[in-house]
Amino acid sequence: RGAVPVLAVDGPVASGKGTLAAQLAQGLGYRLLDSGALYRMTAWAALQRGVALDDEAALVAMLAGLDVAFEPQGVRVNGVSVGDELRSEAVGNAASKVAVLPGVRHALDGLQHSLRALPGLVADGRDMGTVVFPDARLKIFLTASAESRAGRRHAQLLQRGISSRINDLLADLRERDARDTQRATHPLVPAQDAVLLDNSDLTIAQTVDQVLQVWWSRA
Ligand code: CDP
Ligand code: CDP
Repeated sequence: RGAVPVLAVDGPVASGKGTLAAQLAQGLGYRLLDSGALYRMTAWAALQRGVALDDEAALVAMLAGLDVAFEPQGVRVNGVSVGDELRSEAVGNAASKVAVLPGVRHALDGLQHSLRALPGLVADGRDMGTVVFPDARLKIFLTASAESRAGRRHAQLLQRGISSRINDLLADLRERDARDTQRATHPLVPAQDAVLLDNSDLTIAQTVDQVLQVWWSRA
């Protein structure tokens, strides 16, 4: 396992992690782990079943009874594809609530490690470089200003036909950032050996190029 290279991308809400990670995986021919989808799936399943978002034992029992598999666009739960359902802001906010619970994080460990296979893995989330893949070859901590992140999420939602108010998005992302950085278990924090990259004023292509340059310098 240690011989399988991992490129970890961590960062706050809507910093561009998912987009960057997907393009890196495609460019390198690696697998892609969208770890946020697992926390979103957990929250979505709990909301569907009426399981309280702070009931750790019930959430862990629920996860133990679910058959979860990865798909190109999301995950498959008990044979049913869930993709778009996971992408709402409501599910994202609920995800950050179940994500504070150590039992939930532990229950998702095996699934995350199962994707580490040759030729390599690009993994995006909050704790990829700090906890899940501490031996990653490259750890990127991707940030952008809260204003540019809210603006990007606004545009992203609009593309899906969903209108939203920037100020509401800004308040939501600040609240979620606070919960993600202040939780006791595996908070959002740059790994000591992470490369910090602020992409507020970079295009996606520029960001991908910068990361690949560092990657190839280490290969
Ligand atoms: O995965 P994460 O929530 O960190 O962000 P994302 O979904 O990859 O990116 C949020 C939105 O910002 C997407 O619509 C990206 O296309 C956009 N974006 C951008 O406009 N410029 C960048 N440099 C990075 C992302
Ligand atoms: O794309 P966006 O940044 O909005 O969220 P996401 O990456 O899909 O993650 C949703 C929530 O799951 C985050 O706010 C975190 O609370 C949690 N999460 C986590 O705790 N650890 C991870 N490795 C990934 C996500």
